[in-house]
Amino acid sequence: MVESPRPLFIPVLLGTVRQGRMSLPVARLMVSELSRREGIETELIDVARVPLPVDDAGEAIKDPLFASQMSRADALVVVSPEYNHGYSGLLKHVLDSCLSEYIHKAVGVVGVSAGPFGGTRGIQDLLPVLRELGLVTIFWDVNFSSVQGVFDESGTLRDQGYLTRIDKFLKELVWMARTLRHGREHVALE
Ligand SMILES: Cc1cc2nc3c(=O)[nH]c(=O)nc-3n(C[C@H](O)[C@H](O)[C@H](O)COP(=O)(O)O)c2cc1C
Repeated sequence: MVESPRPLFIPVLLGTVRQGRMSLPVARLMVSELSRREGIETELIDVARVPLPVDDAGEAIKDPLFASQMSRADALVVVSPEYNHGYSGLLKHVLDSCLSEYIHKAVGVVGVSAGPFGGTRGIQDLLPVLRELGLVTIFWDVNFSSVQGVFDESGTLRDQGYLTRIDKFLKELVWMARTLRHGREHVALE
């Protein structure tokens, strides 16, 4: 496969607006781990900063900046807290505002929960949504369970074991992002 010299753009979508959200240090950690890799550009996209009205929905309310970030993206990391065994409503509201921008791009989900299951129930519900948007899901997730104990007061990760799991997840995501970029640029849809 001929590699494109252009860096991959893999933003991290922080999927909650909750005050005091523990998904924020998780999203920051994902940005930091992506930034350390060569050939990758990333940024944190906070759903709280995507200015969408809540009296309408779908592509009619597309935000130009978010749409351009999704157009530029080769892959997406979604940080998804578990709320009542599902994903957050505003995450879905923001995702629903685009469509063609996502097609044939990779996505990986990082689940966050206060309980012991690391957001897995929210992730399972989110996967068919991501598929319907045209994104290609990878087969690894990262799960932050009992997240209130994962970082110390300064926001530093307590258990370095998470880095090994994040590494596996990002390797798979980057492979899928590269493969799909090659497909988008070189393989015709018959
Ligand atoms: C409306 C709501 C529902 C929640 N439901 C669950 C749940 O079903 N399972 C769970 O483990 N934690 C649940 N939590 C706790 C969150 O998972 C916890 O706050 C975690 O830190 C991730 O969300 P955060 O980024 O908002 O902090 C819920 C929190 C809220 C605000």
